[in-house]
Formats: sequence, structure tokens, C-alpha cells
Amino acid sequence: MKVIVSAGPTFEDIDPARFIGNRSSGKMGFAIAAEAARRGAEVLLVAGPVHLPTPEGVTRIDVRSAAHMHEAVTSALPASIYIGAAAVADFTPQTFSSTKLKKQTGSETLTLELVRTRDILADVAAHALRPRRVVGFAAETNDIEHYARGKLAAKRIDMICANRVGMAGSGFEADDNTLQVFWKDGDATLGPAPKADIAVLLLDLIDKELA
Ligand code: C5P
Repeated sequence: MKVIVSAGPTFEDIDPARFIGNRSSGKMGFAIAAEAARRGAEVLLVAGPVHLPTPEGVTRIDVRSAAHMHEAVTSALPASIYIGAAAVADFTPQTFSSTKLKKQTGSETLTLELVRTRDILADVAAHALRPRRVVGFAAETNDIEHYARGKLAAKRIDMICANRVGMAGSGFEADDNTLQVFWKDGDATLGPAPKADIAVLLLDLIDKELA
């Protein structure tokens, strides 16, 4: 059984000194990779820029941008399960400036042109080598079920785990988490609990509901 997990943020470079990033710590994805390896799976962890040790028994590929992550994940197929726990940038600068952008005298604003990144999760789910089970994450602040189910359908994935963000004790950077999980025929709430415990519950749920 081969499991691919993506985790952490992506950094989209603007110039040699600046990038666009986000506050994902990678903890949830690393906990899932650790638990899958503990269960005897062959685990490939594709990690964005994070400060976390590689879990025991896990093969890790470090990437920086959404484009790098897309390439690393798709070229690692086939697999039995893909769990996309990374907070992938939705937009990236249209052009990378090889010299540092300067402040323009007299101008109080700067406009950066951003373009959409490719959706790794949707591309894996549509791939000729599609894993039998494709699981995504969604960080939501409101109308969680509505947005989560929308992504489940739009990305044609099998299960989506919604993280409530903007709340203490859950989501980005926290050690604990609460997930609202949705699949075609049901839903479940996991936690609140430490992310390591959430990983155990989530892999049990995947085994049970996506058998
Ligand atoms: O559409 P949204 O970004 O909210 O969806 C979140 C889910 O989609 C996460 O599982 C994330 O890893 C994945 N995603 C992706 N590629 C992108 C954007 C999001 O795989 N370019």
C-alpha cells in the first residue's frame, strides 16, 4: 500500500527576497504521514517549507512552490491513497523578478499580477493513474459544510476534511485540531484532539468509509 501525503504551505516567489506564503505549519499532514507509516504503508511525504522532522519510516521530498508540489506529487503516481493536506497557494506571481523590486518614488501602491496555480488535488483525481482514494482538506471560516461539499464535488475527490480556521485551538499552527469530514454518503466530526490522534481517527475513517 503506497500513500502520498502533501503537507505544509507553498511559497510563491516574487523576487529574490520576497514570496507569498501562508501560515500552514504542516503538522496535520506530518501526523498523517507518521500514522500511515506506523500502519505499515509505504509513505511519500511531499513537504512545503516547514520546520518539522521527517517521521520515522517516511520518505520525504521537500518542495517550495505550488508548481514544484504539483510536479512531485503527480510524478510519484501510482499510489493507493493521496491525501492532500497542504495549504497550496491558489495564486502565484505571473512573473518572477530576478532583481529585487524597488519602491517607485511618488507611487503609494504596488500592483502584483497573480495567476491561478494548477489544482493538484483535482489533477490527481482526474489522472489516468488516479489513486483509488483521494482525500482533500479545506480551510474554512464559515458555511463549512456548504463550501466543503462544493469542493468534494468540484474536485471529484472521495473525502474532504474541513478545518475551521481563525479560531483558537484549531487549524493552522495549533497542536490540536477539529475536523469536519464529508464524503458522498456521510459526515463525521473528529476531535477536538491532538493532531496525532486526529490522524489515527482519520485513517480509521478512510479505511471504514472508503473501503
Ligand atoms: O480550493 P481550495 O484551495 O480551498 O481546496 C483545498 C484543497 O485543495 C486542499 O486539499 C489543497 O491541498 C488542495 N489544493 C491543491 N492545489 C491547489 C489548491 C488547493 O491541491 N492549487
